[in-house]
Amino acid sequence: MEVQEAIGTRRTYRFLLPHKGVELAKIQKMLEAARRASFWGNVQALRAVVVDRATAREDVLASLSAPVAGFQIDRAPVVIVWYLDYAALDDQGDRLKELVNARVLGVDREKALDTLDSFLIPFFQKVMPHIKASGLTEIDCGQGIAQATLVAIDQGLGTACLSTPNEEVIKKNMRLPDTAKVLLLMCVGYPAESREAGGQRPRLPFEGIFHLNEYGNPFPCDEKVIEELKQARLLQEPAPLPEREAELHYLQKALDLPDF
Ligand SMILES: Cc1cc2nc3c(=O)[nH]c(=O)nc-3n(C[C@H](O)[C@H](O)[C@H](O)COP(=O)(O)O)c2cc1C
Repeated sequence: MEVQEAIGTRRTYRFLLPHKGVELAKIQKMLEAARRASFWGNVQALRAVVVDRATAREDVLASLSAPVAGFQIDRAPVVIVWYLDYAALDDQGDRLKELVNARVLGVDREKALDTLDSFLIPFFQKVMPHIKASGLTEIDCGQGIAQATLVAIDQGLGTACLSTPNEEVIKKNMRLPDTAKVLLLMCVGYPAESREAGGQRPRLPFEGIFHLNEYGNPFPCDEKVIEELKQARLLQEPAPLPEREAELHYLQKALDLPDF
């Protein structure tokens, strides 16, 4: 994995080649990356259904479509439905014991297992409603999805994350368990647009969002570091790029896109 993908060239690809399918082996690598991400208590609540337009049922495809961003979903060769399964949290005790037995949690094995049984697992069970409400598990899922995104970019693919108003119909048509919460739809395919995909999107200034030691003390943004990143070609030119207008018109015609 190149740092470049994480800092400078990873971005949302809204325009994908509709006619070019994605090799399932590439999707498998994305899923492996997601599976290996960190999860609190090793609960591993991230799940996915990969919808391959070439082979998926009509009702499954229809449940994904939505107004506004629907043009992306309707043309994407693959849509990954990432979801969280709250049932995974019920097995947290087992997951913690696996960590101890794998010798990556605790020092003395027997003492660690005792502490889990007598204190930690009952404690987690007691505070589980708060943990569920805290967003911690969603953060873990986000980390997994981010890792999958980087693997996609590394393999020459583009992705776009989209929220969905269709949770109920998606759950019904895909037969997801009642304990599932749909997180987002990820369009995956080969980009129809240039690698820069329009250039670096606007970002809030570094100063003001990161702090050192306490709020209000800006984390120092060293211009030398920025220069280093530029020299290494890790930072892209900010959007809009000069040729973007023409590229958008070309994409609109090629992909038969609505006016928005
Ligand atoms: C969790 C998540 C949900 C998103 N949902 C939508 C969405 O519903 N519709 C949409 O057009 N873009 C959506 N986006 C894409 C963002 O608009 C995009 O990330 C943002 O414009 C910055 O662009 P970049 O990803 O290329 O840096 C989503 C992105 C993320 C990470």
